[in-house]
Amino acid sequence: MYLRPLAAATAAFLGLALALTGGTAPSAAAGARVAAPGTGAVRSAGPELDRLLGVPVLYAHRGASAYAPENTLAAVDAAYELGVDWVENDVQRTKDGQLVVIHDDTLTRTTDVKKVFPNRTSWKVGDFTAAEIARLDAGSWFGPEFAGARVPTLRQYLDRVRSNEQRLLLEIKKPELYPGIERDTLRVLEQAGWLGEDTVRNRLVVQSFSADCVRTVHSLRPDLITAFLGTPPVGDLARYAEFADRINPWHTTISAEWVAAVHGVRGAHGDTMRVDTWIVDDAALARKVQAMGVDGIITNAPDVVREAVGWF
Ligand code: G3P
Ligand code: CA
Repeated sequence: MYLRPLAAATAAFLGLALALTGGTAPSAAAGARVAAPGTGAVRSAGPELDRLLGVPVLYAHRGASAYAPENTLAAVDAAYELGVDWVENDVQRTKDGQLVVIHDDTLTRTTDVKKVFPNRTSWKVGDFTAAEIARLDAGSWFGPEFAGARVPTLRQYLDRVRSNEQRLLLEIKKPELYPGIERDTLRVLEQAGWLGEDTVRNRLVVQSFSADCVRTVHSLRPDLITAFLGTPPVGDLARYAEFADRINPWHTTISAEWVAAVHGVRGAHGDTMRVDTWIVDDAALARKVQAMGVDGIITNAPDVVREAVGWF
């Protein structure tokens, strides 16, 4: 298993990187990361340093969801154990207005909701209160060793990512079901201490399949780094660049030419737009999208992709 690198190695690499770039050392909280021992590969340093160093990034999709139940704290920890800084999640809203981390808009696939609430007629996330969802087992479907894992609230999830010193690619899922979820998400981020300058620059990206949602997030918090999930035609990229810094496409929909076209556009903060593609879980595919020039890979199996492409 991958061992998380030593702080001393972090400092050594960062010092070298900053000497090369003329940059200023970030705070300890920024947690800039390092060359992996013996590989020569480079870990993610967060968007600010990524830009300086041109570092490609791996994201653990729904956490390291090949190894732990998706979108649980166990999946965050599994990514941590693999040495993966960035985790991706999905945020939705309960009946009583709490934000929870779950992918599907129903509770059936990843929890025991039908057993706990056998008489209900709807299994939608938005038809259950946070207290009801907190009773559900979100781990047993994946494996008995995860029995008792819960659907985390966004606040619980943010606290775990922070205590692991990881970074978050936060997806607002199906915002059309939850009017105002952008403000709700920003409120929880603020309450959890995730909207400070260092965090915003180095530890957080907000994405959605909904352009309206990304546009709303950008207008409410123009300092946040945002990504649009999809593959807009090249001719439309400039329009997306008004409110997004990144375009994150499904890997089947892209080509080297399209990636180069995205790189030819400057995003909402004036930097070259990035492309982080999903969901890539095998070595051959990882090498294929790497050759297309993508900047990041969102994967359920970050160890497999790391081995293939040498990124962190
Ligand atoms: O981060 C990209 C990816 O999560 C989008 O697909 O359905 O897994 O949310 P989905
Ligand atoms: Ca997602």
